Amino acid sequence: MPKWLENAVFYEIYPQSFLDTDGDGIGNISGITKKLDYIKELGCNAIWINPCFESPFGDAGYDVSDYKKIAPRYGTNQDMSELFAEAHKRGMHIILDLVPGHTSVEHPWFRESVKAEKNIYSDRYVWTDSIWESPNGMDSLRGISDRDGCCALNFFSHQPALNYGFANPDRPWQMRPEDEGPMATREAIKDIMRFWLKMGCDGFRVDMAGSLVKNDPDGQATVRLWQDFREFLDKEFPEAAMVSEWGEPDKSLMGGFHMDFLLHFGPSHYNDLFRCDEPYFSKRGKGSAKEFIAKYKENYEKTGGRGLICIPSGNHDMDRLARRLDNDELKTAFAFLLSMPGAPFIYYGDEIGMRYVEGLVSKEGGYGRTGSRSPMQWDNTLNCGFSAAAPEKLYIPQDNSSDRPDVLSQMTDENSVYSEVKKLIGIRQSHKALQSMGTVEFISDGYPLIYIRSCDEEKLLIMINPSSEEKTAELSYDIKNIIYGNANIDSGRITIKPCSAVFAEI
Ligand code: GLC
Repeated sequence: MPKWLENAVFYEIYPQSFLDTDGDGIGNISGITKKLDYIKELGCNAIWINPCFESPFGDAGYDVSDYKKIAPRYGTNQDMSELFAEAHKRGMHIILDLVPGHTSVEHPWFRESVKAEKNIYSDRYVWTDSIWESPNGMDSLRGISDRDGCCALNFFSHQPALNYGFANPDRPWQMRPEDEGPMATREAIKDIMRFWLKMGCDGFRVDMAGSLVKNDPDGQATVRLWQDFREFLDKEFPEAAMVSEWGEPDKSLMGGFHMDFLLHFGPSHYNDLFRCDEPYFSKRGKGSAKEFIAKYKENYEKTGGRGLICIPSGNHDMDRLARRLDNDELKTAFAFLLSMPGAPFIYYGDEIGMRYVEGLVSKEGGYGRTGSRSPMQWDNTLNCGFSAAAPEKLYIPQDNSSDRPDVLSQMTDENSVYSEVKKLIGIRQSHKALQSMGTVEFISDGYPLIYIRSCDEEKLLIMINPSSEEKTAELSYDIKNIIYGNANIDSGRITIKPCSAVFAEI
């Protein structure tokens, strides 16, 4: 694992909505470069940027038409190269979003692949051999080609599936992962990775990483596919960090990823904590993180210290954390997110409690996700300092509520969500036990949530009480020093105030 992941705290940037420096209403790469110092001051030392490559933007850039070119609306490859250099100057790292599962229908590979005459791209996508045969179990594009066949889809109808073969082929048109066509797809993706890594990119977040080999119910053929990528990276770019959108760390880490996300889909129970009617991290929660912790422990044990499980504050696909949590609740949620093992990921704007903007018209395939993708709120000037464009020109309308949070006012308020997040990151960065590799042992999964983080000689007791009532717990440890929060300790019992957290050295 690259050494820098040991204390990495990531910041996710949706480039459309971060900072627009040329007044066209849409964010750009130089906007990110301009805000590196802001991100660093918050305490984050790594950045994940959502896809910023040439695209018709039917899925906000997850429909790539040229993997090696920055979309002109964001700038140039030169701008990206400068961003890498500026980040490295500050000791920061940048990972890009790799979308290996599908392309846009506008990608030149696909344009060649639809042709009736056989060519080197004919097998780049998953095609059946007759227009009358659908790829079983998968949606498909039909009647759009001279070629006789249907093309399998990976996500939206304009995102044809790249061909990595089938684990258990049972039709003549289904190839094996090691067949020539699927092997060529792999090499093409390696070539793209090489291109950006050589320019200074520090790794990739991999989109739908678990979906590549088809008809692979136990995921093992997809694991083997990623092991091949691992071999390539070990040989050529051992410092490149890889994080998967997979949600099953036992598989992805076996596949050679360094980190896997726990997400709002899959079996993680992540939503129980933050995104349901009565989330655990809210005063109206029903008091148990049991199922989440049980699943987490199962994954944690299976991974055997081989890689990191990452619990993000949110992302461009899910509701904003603040849709269901108030500011005090956000602080306890961050006390948890920033004291767990693995690398934390903070979705831009979550550090100020940016809200989900209700009632928006879908933008670029966002649908219900659009409300979580609104422009960053920097200050209280025009468009909250995001852009000099006329407000109606903005990529997505801004949160227009009179009490919307913004960076500038939160930076000067020591009780703000921003100040709490910054303080928590600072504490994490000065205690190795709290960082990526420190171990975790759960003591209680009710209210309060109690766990111990350890590394070498250092042991920290974390107690989080998200409920609206004071909670008392028996202590079988000597508290040496409280490093975060306030608690009353009296004859072996500790009392924690409502909606608060305590970290103590033991
Ligand atoms: C991932 C992305 C999402 C995108 C989808 C298809 O889940 O996070 O935004 O729409 O893949 O690429």
